[in-house]
Amino acid sequence: MASLGSSIKPIISSTRILFGLLPSLGGIILLRMVIHLYRPDIEDAEHRIQDVPVDQLFESYDFIIIGGGSAGSVLANRLSENPEWNILLLEAGQNENVLSELPILFPVLQTSSIDWQFVTEPSSDYCLSMVDNRCKWPRGKLLGGSSALNAMLYIRGNKKDYDNWADQGNEGWAYKDVFKYFLKAEDMKIPEFKDNPYHSTGGPISIEYFAYEHPITKKILEAGEQLGYNIVDVNGEFQTGFTRSHATIRDGLRCSTAKGYLRPARGRANLHISLESLVEKILIDNHKRTYGVKFTKHGQSYIINVNKEVILSAGAIQSPQILMLSGIGDRAELYDAGINPLIHLPGVGKNLQDHIAMGGHSFLFDNPYTNGSDYCFNLNTAASVGSIIDFAFNNKGPLYSMMEAEAMAFVNTKYQDPTEDYPDIQFFIAPTADNMDGGLYGKRANGLTDETYAELYEDILYQSSFSVVPLLLRPKSRGYIKLRDSNPNSPPLIYPNYYSEPEDVARMIEGARIAQTLIEQPALRELNARPNPNRNPGCKNYSLMSDEHLECQARHHSLTIYHPVGTCAMGPADNADTVVDSKLKVHGIKNLRVVDGSIMPTIVSGNTNAPIIMIAEKASDMIKEDWSEELYYEFESNYESDYKNHDSEETKNLFVYNENSELIPNIYDEIITLFPYFSLKSIQNHVKSITDLLGRLNITDILIT
Ligand SMILES: Cc1cc2nc3c(=O)[nH]c(=O)nc-3n(C[C@H](O)[C@H](O)[C@H](O)COP(=O)(O)OP(=O)(O)OC[C@H]3O[C@@H](n4cnc5c(N)ncnc54)[C@H](O)[C@@H]3O)c2cc1C
Ligand SMILES: *[C@@H]1O[C@H](CO)[C@@H](O)[C@H](O)[C@H]1NC(C)=O
Ligand SMILES: *[C@@H]1O[C@H](CO)[C@@H](O)[C@H](O)[C@H]1NC(C)=O
Ligand SMILES: *[C@@H]1O[C@H](CO)[C@@H](O)[C@H](O)[C@H]1NC(C)=O
Repeated sequence: MASLGSSIKPIISSTRILFGLLPSLGGIILLRMVIHLYRPDIEDAEHRIQDVPVDQLFESYDFIIIGGGSAGSVLANRLSENPEWNILLLEAGQNENVLSELPILFPVLQTSSIDWQFVTEPSSDYCLSMVDNRCKWPRGKLLGGSSALNAMLYIRGNKKDYDNWADQGNEGWAYKDVFKYFLKAEDMKIPEFKDNPYHSTGGPISIEYFAYEHPITKKILEAGEQLGYNIVDVNGEFQTGFTRSHATIRDGLRCSTAKGYLRPARGRANLHISLESLVEKILIDNHKRTYGVKFTKHGQSYIINVNKEVILSAGAIQSPQILMLSGIGDRAELYDAGINPLIHLPGVGKNLQDHIAMGGHSFLFDNPYTNGSDYCFNLNTAASVGSIIDFAFNNKGPLYSMMEAEAMAFVNTKYQDPTEDYPDIQFFIAPTADNMDGGLYGKRANGLTDETYAELYEDILYQSSFSVVPLLLRPKSRGYIKLRDSNPNSPPLIYPNYYSEPEDVARMIEGARIAQTLIEQPALRELNARPNPNRNPGCKNYSLMSDEHLECQARHHSLTIYHPVGTCAMGPADNADTVVDSKLKVHGIKNLRVVDGSIMPTIVSGNTNAPIIMIAEKASDMIKEDWSEELYYEFESNYESDYKNHDSEETKNLFVYNENSELIPNIYDEIITLFPYFSLKSIQNHVKSITDLLGRLNITDILIT
């Protein structure tokens, strides 16, 4: 009977979740209507980017930027400041989505069609509680890139990270050199940091606290102080300590790089943005000089030439992919994938680093409010009509919350000397756990199996909870990315190799122990804070909190913090593992740079968006400087342009002109593209799996017991 019970529990759990999705889709449609009617400030129709149709593109540009993400958007703005230069930005995804501006919808965006939906190759060492032992690796596929679907946390990393880059032979990248670019990007709006030498105002990216926070967060910060840490500005002089999260937020809403950098440049005639344009290849002539790019839009392929440079900003997964598709990479691997190698650069795709976290650190507590108000996040309250009204008419309420990390901390394990101010563990402090959304979003976003979700959360649904998620700031393990085949549409093979270095496991175990001591502090003991009584089904045999148990937990409930970097590492040309020099030029090729997260030689000790924006700000200045003397070369015509005008299908513009020439949103397309998983098919598949299971059950058996 026990086996029967455990096989039916996941089915019940997933059925409940599936039917929960339908009302939640209704809620999202309602919310979208409310924004249209009452919050034109969010639609911001007159500033949204319009796609430039192919027949209006030029045959050549001074600069072509591949990818309009965190880095690409910065470059498009900064380079088009020079009216003498023509800039083309090619983005594979669609325009920014209006709904993605609401902080609370952060987990909803993953696995939608604005996400590339990458998954890692199956492993027997990590992500063991995930479907097929694969970790989900979301990446933004839209203007703004991953900055348009990320958790909005604003962290610069540790000063030593940049000094280490400089020590590895990268001149100009020490903290003292890059600091000014953090300031250039920043518009600090938190009053207490406005007149602070570590911050600045007036830049394109606004920084605020999340506009809605839950009471439990304050208690956890109090516990942090009781544990001996200070509340500090983690982006200021010292990183070690606890803090409310600084976020890339403007007036309570997401401030992606598309909002911060592209919308203000909308009127520039010298900047063309082409959406739904997938770059397949960078074109390089016999003199190893880059002369253009090949891309497809709506099923047609095009070549556009470049006069000065191609800048690759497709992110840490796709920048190496595009280099390899263009013949730049490890010669033998390229042959294997069916690509003709042009330049042997074995570092392309290697040196993959990511921040890995231990999930499942959910704690229950007793709600001190006796009047029924929530002390932590609760989807049912957040999605209520009252909360939508608060949002529509009062510009406040729980829809402004980003419940995955209202606070955070940087702490030191026993392996790290605390006097160095170089913490090795970061905590994400969430006023919620996966039990609080009933399994609707968090479970799907991480790819947790039905069995694991059911065992861990089904019998504690909606009980007050919070999470403290420890992650490794400077993992030693290195992974890699390889081409699956020569098809530009094939997702590359991703091998993160988490925990391949024993030291990473050891530090993670210590991080989990610090989380445990945190909840034993008086501020949380007062609330009877206690670990989730349920155990991960894969780790039941180990004694609670033993090293074996924690290692098992780390290898099962492995959560990427979505920071893959390093796959086109910066370093001197004589270092065979590196791909670009300190000016971000690809070794051995003319007029080609990589500017995005992939150039980090070692991962920074913190979230990656702000550092990548810094990288692109610095790169823009380096490019302007390099071309200031205008060293024109003879442009060689050793190619045939197959550029033609095609009657191609229209881009799905999320804003369209009506008969009165007013810009109005195309709400139907917007919602359908965001939620493809609400298909009838998924419901049909599910009904099938229930009936299959019933067919296998022995009814006599059920009736007898
Ligand atoms: C779910 C999630 C949560 C995160 N949370 C945070 C956070 O809270 N704080 C933080 O600091 N960081 C966070 N990050 C990480 C951070 O957002 C990324 O590191 C950063 O945005 C990456 O910037 P990038 O410019 O390197 O790449 P991206 O921003 O990913 O940009 C790459 C762009 O290139 C486009 N592209 C790719 N291939 C092609 C092609 N062949 N042709 C044309 N275009 C192409 C993509 O569509 C995309 O727009 C998060 C990331 C994710 C995914
Ligand atoms: C419940 O009590 C708390 C604490 O006193 C208060 O902040 C909150 O507004 C109350 N909620 C309601 C619905 O009255
Ligand atoms: C736990 O131990 C039992 C009995 O020794 C064994 O059958 C089972 O496979 C173990 N489970 C795990 C997840 O290791
Ligand atoms: C169902 O279970 C009963 C009682 O355990 C057993 O006698 C019977 O053979 C089983 N039937 C099938 C089809 O397995």
